[in-house]
Amino acid sequence: MSSIPGFTNTPSLGFTPSTSESPKTQAIIKTLNLQPHLEGGYFVETDRDFRTVPNPFPDSAQDSPTRSASTTIYYLLTAKSPVGHFHRNKGRTVHTLHKGRGWYVIIHADEVKQQGQKPRIEAFRVGQDVEGGEKLQWIVEGGKYKATFVVPEESGVTGDEMLLISETVVPGFDFADHNFMKTETLHELVTPEQVKELAWLLLE
Ligand code: GUN
Repeated sequence: MSSIPGFTNTPSLGFTPSTSESPKTQAIIKTLNLQPHLEGGYFVETDRDFRTVPNPFPDSAQDSPTRSASTTIYYLLTAKSPVGHFHRNKGRTVHTLHKGRGWYVIIHADEVKQQGQKPRIEAFRVGQDVEGGEKLQWIVEGGKYKATFVVPEESGVTGDEMLLISETVVPGFDFADHNFMKTETLHELVTPEQVKELAWLLLE
C-alpha cells in the first residue's frame, strides 16, 4: 500500500538507471539536439514567441518586466536519466506525449491557504494506453510542484526506456519563475510517511 493517492504500491523506478544511453536513445538525443536538463533528462527549446507580455508574476525577485508570450521544449527522460526532480514554475505548462510512458506526481502547493495546511497530492500515468487511463495531454498550473519518472514496458527492461514529450509554458519559461523543491519544503508539505515515499524524487 502507498500513502500517495494514485499509487497502489510505493512509487519507485522499478529499474536501475543505465550507465550509458542505448544507441536508439542516443540517436533521438542527437537528432533533436537535446541537452542535459538541470531537472534530470534532456531538453531543447524549439520555440520562443518573439512577442512579449507584461510579467504577470509581480512577486518575482530581481525580475524583468516582461515575459515571452510562450515557449515550447522537447523533454526526454531516459534509462540513464529517468527522473525529472520536484520543481515548480510560475507559468502554466501544457504537456503533450510523443513516446513512452511515465508517472507524474503533483503537489498542489498553490492551493494551500494557511500555513501548515497539507496540499492535495495527485499522481497519474502518461502514455499511449488511453483506454487504460493513461494521459496523452496534461496541464500543470503554475505554483504546483511536479516530479516525473519513466515507466518501463511491461515486457521488461531493455535500456531503451524513455518518455518523450513537448511542454509549452505560458507565459514563456524564465529561470526567475522556476525553483527546485527543497527537502525542508517536502517535509512541510506532506506527512512523514509520504516523505519516505517521495524523497527520492528530490534533486537535493
Ligand atoms: N532552459 C532551462 N530549462 C528550461 C525549460 O524548462 N524550458 C525552457 N524553455 N528553457 C529552459
